[in-house]
Amino acid sequence: AHKIILDTDPGIDDAMAIFFAFQSPDIEVLGLTTVYGNVPVTMAAQNALTLCEIAGKDIPVTKGVGMPWVGPESTYAHFVHGEHGFGHIKPEAPKTELDPRSSAQFIVDMARKYPGEITIVAIGPLGNLALALRLEPELPKLVKGVSIMGGAAFVPGNVTPVAEANIWNDAHAAEIVFAADWELTMFGLDVTNFTPFSPAFVEKLEEKNNTLGGFVKESAQFYMDFYSQNREDRVCFFHDAFPIAHLRHPELFELTEGHVRVGTGTLDRGQTVVAPKGTTPSPLWNEANTIKVATKVDHKKLEQLFIDTYAL
Ligand code: BDR
Ligand code: CA
Repeated sequence: AHKIILDTDPGIDDAMAIFFAFQSPDIEVLGLTTVYGNVPVTMAAQNALTLCEIAGKDIPVTKGVGMPWVGPESTYAHFVHGEHGFGHIKPEAPKTELDPRSSAQFIVDMARKYPGEITIVAIGPLGNLALALRLEPELPKLVKGVSIMGGAAFVPGNVTPVAEANIWNDAHAAEIVFAADWELTMFGLDVTNFTPFSPAFVEKLEEKNNTLGGFVKESAQFYMDFYSQNREDRVCFFHDAFPIAHLRHPELFELTEGHVRVGTGTLDRGQTVVAPKGTTPSPLWNEANTIKVATKVDHKKLEQLFIDTYAL
């Protein structure tokens, strides 16, 4: 099985992705490490505990960074994910407790315990990973790879015309994470924002799995209200589940390779600028790290994979 750590800011699509990972027989989730993003970090940590309790999963949950690497506190995305992060659902206070370690420390500890075995799947802002790199500079050698949901390489952003939310939330951390010497694969808006999911899809999830799918369906109502504001059809986007689907079924995706830099200025904050090899003479890019960027996914097969996995 793929050993993963899920670094998350739950979040409706985070919840959908976490349950998808829990349900996947070929994935072993070593822990949930939380970070601020959709919601403040204390809420993110509580929400992660709640999701584990709902799924009956007894794994470590840690609380991580609560602010960007540089700059003031974040503004959060309650208007997308609801007051408590799960749409209209107000979760009961979890009965289980957090692992006392910070998210960054947990990531480092696990990487040392299972050298070369772990894929870090980051589906929130990247502060915990940046901090883990500072705690353990050898981290890139200790993990198998890093898969992130974030960025917008060749398409518009969702916070600004150029920036996607996870990267915009902590652009400096993202620049550190992208520059580290590990195998990094980015699932950005290039794929996730072109793969809408319908009300019939979330109903299917509920039909296949009353507890987990039911929770996703209920929380997704608010999420669909948000996403349907500027379009005719009623849909939502399960961004965060994509990197997990790719781990299990890489054949569903098309990837390209390029040098990446992250904008940290005012207008370009959080922009992921990807230069395919040999396309620019600028050393700012052609000496930058290369990453893999997902550009296409088989929508139908992906949807079926989610449904079949929730049914397990
Ligand atoms: C990303 O931002 C968050 O709102 C979602 O959970 C996802 O991780 C999409 O831009
Ligand atoms: Ca997220």
